[in-house]
Amino acid sequence: MRLDRAPSLSAAPALVPGLSLQTRYSQVRAASEAISAALSDEDCQLQSMPDASPIKWHLAHTSWFFETFVLVPNLPGYACFDPAFAVLFNSYYVGVGDRHPRPERGMLSRPSRSEIIAYRHHVDAATAQLIAADASACRELIELGLHHEQQHQELMRMDILHAFSRNPTAPACDPAWQAPPRVAPDRRWHTVAAGLYRIGHDNPEQAGEGFAFDNETPAHRIWLEDYRIADRLVNAGAYQDFIADGGYSRPELWLSDGWATAISEGWNAPLYWQRGDGAWTIFSPAGPRPIDPDEAVMHVSYYEADAFARWAGARLPTEAEWEVAAPRFAQGFGVGWQWTHSAYNAYPGFRPATGAVGEYNGKFMINQLVLRGSSWATPPGHARATYRNFFPPAARWMMSAIRLADQA
Ligand SMILES: [Fe+2]
Repeated sequence: MRLDRAPSLSAAPALVPGLSLQTRYSQVRAASEAISAALSDEDCQLQSMPDASPIKWHLAHTSWFFETFVLVPNLPGYACFDPAFAVLFNSYYVGVGDRHPRPERGMLSRPSRSEIIAYRHHVDAATAQLIAADASACRELIELGLHHEQQHQELMRMDILHAFSRNPTAPACDPAWQAPPRVAPDRRWHTVAAGLYRIGHDNPEQAGEGFAFDNETPAHRIWLEDYRIADRLVNAGAYQDFIADGGYSRPELWLSDGWATAISEGWNAPLYWQRGDGAWTIFSPAGPRPIDPDEAVMHVSYYEADAFARWAGARLPTEAEWEVAAPRFAQGFGVGWQWTHSAYNAYPGFRPATGAVGEYNGKFMINQLVLRGSSWATPPGHARATYRNFFPPAARWMMSAIRLADQA
């Protein structure tokens, strides 16, 4: 399979709520296979760092999720495709048993890619049987499985880009990839008056407002002081000014942990940026290309976003400030996830789901920061204003961008 004849990695249908559960299930599952169809067997085997996973593993793990949480407990007589997969493709669910070590996912040359595709289709046939019979008892779990799979579709795009970036011949993982919309240079500030605001998602079980992950609930009130927040993202030109002004060599701009990380990692620019003969290039899914000063800066860690904000005489927004102002943003969604300086924590009254699936979000509520919005790699229909993405502060292989805020 050749990359230059393959379908675009970016093609993915929206998860439209009005469609039947079976139709949406089929669409989401097909979208994952469409991503992998653009890649060779060797591409799908790569694991470029412990935080990333092989495409093969993503394809299998998303199937394992349906098998473990939907089919085994709910479809009488369901036969597991291969009992060994229970360990190989369990990500982090301690409650359901042992797990293959994450940094060694790339060592799994077997099962082969074709076996994993057969596994997917085995799970798909059984899920179709369950939906046709009566899915009412496990509809919410199937919904969770679909949104989980969409999260992995973005991870697939992140991970394959990172893997290809490590190849000195700089191949394109998605030659047809189109850069997201540019950032218009005349930034404006939205001012928000102090007051009591409501954020978060009403519990879908109670309010029927559509899907939300448990970490978005419950909706609650929060007091905000006067603030202002940028209507658009920080562009690459502004970030180049930060670099030219010694941004990576001025410790007064950096958090202590960030400064130590930047030194130990040798950071002098965002991930995937390289300076050639006086000009910056970025490694994109379409391969290396010149940086457009009006494109959104992305692939920055929290530490870099924070240092940039300090240099710019501003700060990063809290997640509540972001959510309250989101309806007024020019680029809230579809370009890059936006760092906030909110710790990823439980909302007041948060209750994780019961059982092993309760491990989905809650146990990660430590040592991470919240990002809001969505990116060009987020599947259509997967984003919403209450969505809470989260990463450790040093991570930067995701499509992470910067939106500034300040006191009004
Ligand atoms: Fe997962």
